[in-house]
Amino acid sequence: MRKYQIDNRLDITEYEIIRSNVSLTETLTIALIADLHDRPYEKILASLKERRPDLIAIAGDLIDGYTADGMENRSKNELTRMPKSMLADSAYALQFLKECAAVSPTYYGLGNHEWLLSDRDFKLIHRTGVHLLDNAFAEFPSSRSNICKASGNTAPVLLPDKKDRILIGGLTSSAVMRYREYILENPKMAGYYPLFPPRPWWQKRRNTHPHLDYAWLDEFEQQDGFKILLCHHPEYWKRKDPVLSEMDFGLTMSGHAHGGQIRVLGHGLFAPGQGLLPKYTGGSHNGRHGTLVVSRGLANTAPFPRFGNRPELVYIRLS
Ligand SMILES: [Fe+2]
Repeated sequence: MRKYQIDNRLDITEYEIIRSNVSLTETLTIALIADLHDRPYEKILASLKERRPDLIAIAGDLIDGYTADGMENRSKNELTRMPKSMLADSAYALQFLKECAAVSPTYYGLGNHEWLLSDRDFKLIHRTGVHLLDNAFAEFPSSRSNICKASGNTAPVLLPDKKDRILIGGLTSSAVMRYREYILENPKMAGYYPLFPPRPWWQKRRNTHPHLDYAWLDEFEQQDGFKILLCHHPEYWKRKDPVLSEMDFGLTMSGHAHGGQIRVLGHGLFAPGQGLLPKYTGGSHNGRHGTLVVSRGLANTAPFPRFGNRPELVYIRLS
């Protein structure tokens, strides 16, 4: 599929979020990167180096996961063989992770395009120094040892009580979780995903997103401190059955909507998961407990160009 180049001027959008219930000794600046889709990043990196944010948050779709060799049935997201490593084969994504980690502490949450990341990819991410938050959370600033994977292979770890700390978590896309389920149920794929042995990750107690890992999410929500969530899909924020807007996350950061592809008078036209005239394609939105900031993304994967919708790099000042 031809990838239309987009207007490569970069919009930089800044938000200030003030929370009276957080005691930060200094303002925290977060750079939000979303939907780079393995594209050139010179301008983004130049901005990051100039501003030196306290934290770089990658809210998914760093790679282009639908061009993988071996994919036989795109509509069902089925494969007959697993690509060895999306990141090792990437033109820009792996190097971008290394560059980000050299600038500021970097956290990476998984979007729908990350569905094909393999064990080798996870090792490569680890080596870059980037903190992978795959249904996991960490106290900021983080060391490897304080990444908590509440419903993962390790036992749940409750961090000690501390109200003035900052925690950051990453909610993995339901597309990734569905694919892991498929791998486990398909004998032909046995052995491709040794990191993820069969176990019930999800609880079907919420209707609209049955594949999300709510066990992990609930445990993250129960932690004391200001909680920042990387959640690639902004539609998880609020649907008929709200997933996130009723939960206690001070700041949620998303992408995925690509600004609605075509923007007229500040509104996007279409977004995957939200359909026509979507609500969450950019900007900030307030919920019961916190704020959702949506990046319009940094690239294009649709077979038609973005219109009125430049790539966007977001900075958020938390004070
Ligand atoms: Fe996406």
